[in-house]
Amino acid sequence: MARTKSSSRWLQEHVNDPYVKQAQKDGYRSRSSYKLLELNEKDRLIRPGMLIVDLGAAPGGWSWVLLEKRARVIAVDPAMLRPDLYERRGLRHVKESAFTFEPEETVDWLFCDMAWRPLEAAALLAKWARRHWARMLVANLKLPMKRKAEMAIRLREVLADGGWTRIRMRQLYHDRDEITVVAARG
Ligand SMILES: C[S@@+](CC[C@H](N)C(=O)[O-])C[C@H]1O[C@@H](n2cnc3c(N)ncnc32)[C@H](O)[C@@H]1O
Repeated sequence: MARTKSSSRWLQEHVNDPYVKQAQKDGYRSRSSYKLLELNEKDRLIRPGMLIVDLGAAPGGWSWVLLEKRARVIAVDPAMLRPDLYERRGLRHVKESAFTFEPEETVDWLFCDMAWRPLEAAALLAKWARRHWARMLVANLKLPMKRKAEMAIRLREVLADGGWTRIRMRQLYHDRDEITVVAARG
């Protein structure tokens, strides 16, 4: 299939992105890995044996980092993960939309880096709290719009309505048009 102008430009920027280059050099699965490494460095969120659902997991940068921390990971994404991830112990790939996936038990962490409209993603995360499906949350919400601060306030309200508490929102060094949320339930 012929590449469009914008996809060629994205590919060019992606290939030239210094963090993509660094990620390849360090053996991480994607640029996204650095967001999680940055967050975990400060907060020490992940402990061995924790059960974590990773929504929007492909190509698998976050799942890779979580497995390195010896967590058990359920990676939910209709897209395929990097082939070498399938060899890792502790990983299950559910090739399904995050909007239809339901966990079999309450998990320690819900991670979400899904490429989706932020209010709809936040409503899904609120459902996870309401149904007691996860105890803690890390989510990267996309903010491509101009009025980012207003959207962030609205997203916080949606998450709080669902039952997420201790909601912290920040823009990590590696975040671009996005915000990273950490929260707990109850
Ligand atoms: C930014 S990428 C995630 C990168 C990933 N965190 C990593 O570290 O490699 C966004 C992902 O969201 C996924 N996605 C989009 N819509 C989805 C949906 N309805 N359910 C699950 N995943 C979805 C896409 O397939 C894509 O793989």
